[in-house]
Amino acid sequence: MRLLEYACGIAALAALAAAAPTRHVPRDVSADVLQQLTLFAEYSAASYCTNNINSTGNKLSCSAGNCPMVEAATTKTLYEFEEDSKFGDVAGFLVEDSTNKLLIMAFRGSRSLSTWIANLDFATEDIGSICTGCEAHGGFWKSWEAVADSLVAQIKSAVDAHPQYTLVFTGHSFGGAMATLGATAMRNDGYKIELYTYGSPRLGNKALAEYVTSQGSLYRTTHTDDIVPKLPPIVIGFSHPSPEYWITSGDGVDIDTSDIKVIEGIDSKSGNAGASGESTSAHGWYIVDISACQ
Ligand SMILES: *[C@@H]1O[C@H](CO)[C@@H](O)[C@H](O)[C@H]1NC(C)=O
Repeated sequence: MRLLEYACGIAALAALAAAAPTRHVPRDVSADVLQQLTLFAEYSAASYCTNNINSTGNKLSCSAGNCPMVEAATTKTLYEFEEDSKFGDVAGFLVEDSTNKLLIMAFRGSRSLSTWIANLDFATEDIGSICTGCEAHGGFWKSWEAVADSLVAQIKSAVDAHPQYTLVFTGHSFGGAMATLGATAMRNDGYKIELYTYGSPRLGNKALAEYVTSQGSLYRTTHTDDIVPKLPPIVIGFSHPSPEYWITSGDGVDIDTSDIKVIEGIDSKSGNAGASGESTSAHGWYIVDISACQ
């Protein structure tokens, strides 16, 4: 019996290899990548703290104690914002981190996860102006458009003032969707942007996922069977860009490099998409208790 299973396994693997010659074996991350994933998880966490989005010009801090690396850096916000749009609150900050020579645009996730999931619709909108054949989730795209003019102006002046700094977009949950759409649009205008998202929902169709993938510098992080990256579902035409950085350890567990697998391939089932279960608690643990400030 065991031998038969083994033989079937070999046959299945051989069939897979024949069908998909570019299939990648998930690999662990390096210590440097883990350090970056941690730093930007903390920046995303900081965007949930009211004191970081209700005034401009201050040093970032997290009352929940979940952003020690951010607090250790010399930071000064260049723009803090919170806008109510009928598609949801878009909030966050643009900050200068002179310790790490970074400009970070961080977007907050939704304040009530269960309400957000219940209200999530699947309507898409043509965004052929961004890439040919691309469609985005209508609510996500309209939310980016609601803040785009003011953010682009702020980012432009920050980049002009600090041409040697690295520009990073980041966010958790809905904030990850905002970060990805914003970075994709601004890269089209020539900005060089590194993108770190945590528990982002799917943004749109496969053409969009392929386009975001082709832009590179993407760290799309998921955690075990977090429900949010499973939405909206693949079966109704939504896709995620690649690669995925899949955290395999449980909620509240300190993370090591071997706990994060790098998974290549749009719509791969090797990571979150193939994990059985749909957990809301897994959505809260991204290296830190990411939404603890809300
Ligand atoms: C911003 O929020 C913090 C935390 O709630 C509060 O202490 C502070 O007074 C607020 N600042 C402004 C300008 O509203």
